[in-house]
Amino acid sequence: MSDVSRQNADTAAEQQANDKVTGSATDSATDGATDGATGATEQAAQPTAYELIGGEARVRELVDRFYDLMDLEPQFAGLRALHPPSMDGSRDKLFWFLCGWLGGPNHFIERFGHPRLRARHLPFEIGISERDQWMRCMAMAMHDVGLSEDLQMRLLQALFQTADWMRNVAR
Ligand code: HEM
Repeated sequence: MSDVSRQNADTAAEQQANDKVTGSATDSATDGATDGATGATEQAAQPTAYELIGGEARVRELVDRFYDLMDLEPQFAGLRALHPPSMDGSRDKLFWFLCGWLGGPNHFIERFGHPRLRARHLPFEIGISERDQWMRCMAMAMHDVGLSEDLQMRLLQALFQTADWMRNVAR
């Protein structure tokens, strides 16, 4: 696959995942081109997942719990081993990314441009086991920080699409 078509495929998968989680707020999460007035009206009618979670501090709490669990739980040792010794940078990046993905501020895109998540994960061997560890770790973190069952289910379904798309080895 050429770089261009891989990027397009990346965009499509991320768009698809975003559609599921943020609904009308998707535009601002993916390309930053939101009409201010329309966006405000739509947001008033339908809260974004970012708002439902409770904003930036709660997203940070979720990400911190996710990486704490990755560090602590033996069942996530394989996933942990893919990450650098200090995960401070990983925490910041996932936090910035999730803020935008959930329909909040586009911190990640402002710093790094288009997420191109699949391309950014190509240096790491990701198969079914890594995908499932990532998903279990996130599910546990969502439970631990007390997200409502409804929101957990909705977010996990959408995240699964993204995590599955990240697989790059046949095992
Ligand atoms: C499917 C299993 C996954 C594995 C094994 C995995 C693993 C990794 C690793 C090892 C890094 C590098 C960390 C660092 O350099 O500090 C990373 C970066 C990142 N991951 Fe994942 N990840 C997975 C899924 C996801 C998902 C589903 C998302 C988003 C919802 C995500 C978002 C990110 C972001 C935003 C970065 C930073 C990218 C960059 O700027 O370099 N990852 N991931």
